[in-house]
Amino acid sequence: MDTRVAIIGAGPAGLLLGHLLKAEGVDCVVIERQTPDYVLSRIRAGVLEQITVGLMERLGLDARLKAEGLVEEGFNLADGERLIRIDVAKFTGKTVTVYGQTEITRDLMDAAPARGLEVIYGAEDVALHDIDSDAPSVTFRKDGREARVTARFIAGCDGFHGPSRKAIPAGVGREYERVYPFGWLGILADVPPCNPELIYANHERGFALASMRSHTRSRYYIDVPLTEKIEDWSDARLWDELAVRLGPEAAANMTRGPSIEKSIAPLRSYVFEPMRHGSLLLCGDAAHIVPPTGAKGLNLAASDVHYAAEALTGCFRRSDNDAVAAYSARALARVWKCERFSWTLTKLMHRFPDDGPFERAMQVAELDYIASSDAAQASIAENYVGLPV
Ligand code: FAD
Ligand code: DHB
Repeated sequence: MDTRVAIIGAGPAGLLLGHLLKAEGVDCVVIERQTPDYVLSRIRAGVLEQITVGLMERLGLDARLKAEGLVEEGFNLADGERLIRIDVAKFTGKTVTVYGQTEITRDLMDAAPARGLEVIYGAEDVALHDIDSDAPSVTFRKDGREARVTARFIAGCDGFHGPSRKAIPAGVGREYERVYPFGWLGILADVPPCNPELIYANHERGFALASMRSHTRSRYYIDVPLTEKIEDWSDARLWDELAVRLGPEAAANMTRGPSIEKSIAPLRSYVFEPMRHGSLLLCGDAAHIVPPTGAKGLNLAASDVHYAAEALTGCFRRSDNDAVAAYSARALARVWKCERFSWTLTKLMHRFPDDGPFERAMQVAELDYIASSDAAQASIAENYVGLPV
């Protein structure tokens, strides 16, 4: 099979890019290792920036998002005693939308056949070839048969563990990494949220986040040491811990219920530079990871895809090769700012095992400063709603 862009990975990055290229008349194919059901079973991000909502709008795939998404004008930081509300709408004139990554993926998946976007699921042993040339290809096995897709470009949208980044020759790129000494234990339950706006809490006992998917479905997280086992966290134990960490006000409004999903995700900051090598462009988690504090992961994948779609469309529609050459620098400028914000918010809201009284005093002072300063709140709001693309 021959196409213009072979996209590896049918997560949000790969499907968004596929739809955007198709909409511009650029031929492409998406190649995914898992089944559609498996992709949809992964419970991940929940807060969308304007960039992500805007891409769905541009594709005309925002009907369900508009009908079911919850528009949020602010969120809260909690310091164990009080809620510090960040009025995002007041400071930026913008809002964020609560709509699960699963739902975005489902909308993109469902629309693919009608838009002529071919997605090959269940592709095993995906491998990239000749990325240094103008005629790269992707090989894989599907239903026991070997297949090859030749293309002009490959878009690596295959997440942190996919083969794309690893296909870049050693010594060409540079990795920056910070692994955190805790993970987030998340619970999804069909109960109403405890608060209409998200709460990120830094309590003496650790971090907690109260989030949601709808008026009847809640998502909560606490941080736990990486040695912690999910089996040791009964629903009852997790609800008790959430009630303590989120504080009395949220606890009083918290409805408990059986978990639909419960998992522990490690936290990591990671950037790979450059985001393009030869004919391979990396997008989303394939190139970078942010810790989830600040809800940037999915939105960063969307902004990469915005830049990649512009670059590839420019190349095919206007013979503009400079756009592809500029992709990595354009995307990385935004990536590093989002890495900074996610790292800053992670440091502010979590207890690190090596922290002493001084570090704790700094957190208290910073939260107190944020509570009293419009300038500090405006800066947080500007980053939370998403920096311009
Ligand atoms: P992915 O969603 O990882 O998609 C990559 C796709 O590539 C997958 O479908 C995968 O199956 C496919 N793939 C992988 N290997 C191959 C292969 N060999 N061949 C073909 N296809 C392949 N962000 C937040 O903002 N909030 C959160 O709460 C949050 N929770 C998270 C929890 C977990 C466990 C993880 C891993 C991430 C979480 N994130 C969260 C981050 C956010 O979900 C990601 O940033 C987002 O999914 C990035 O989208 P993507 O399309 O780049 O990558
Ligand atoms: C959710 C996840 C996040 O990482 C975050 O910062 C906010 C909300 C969520 O899953 O709802």
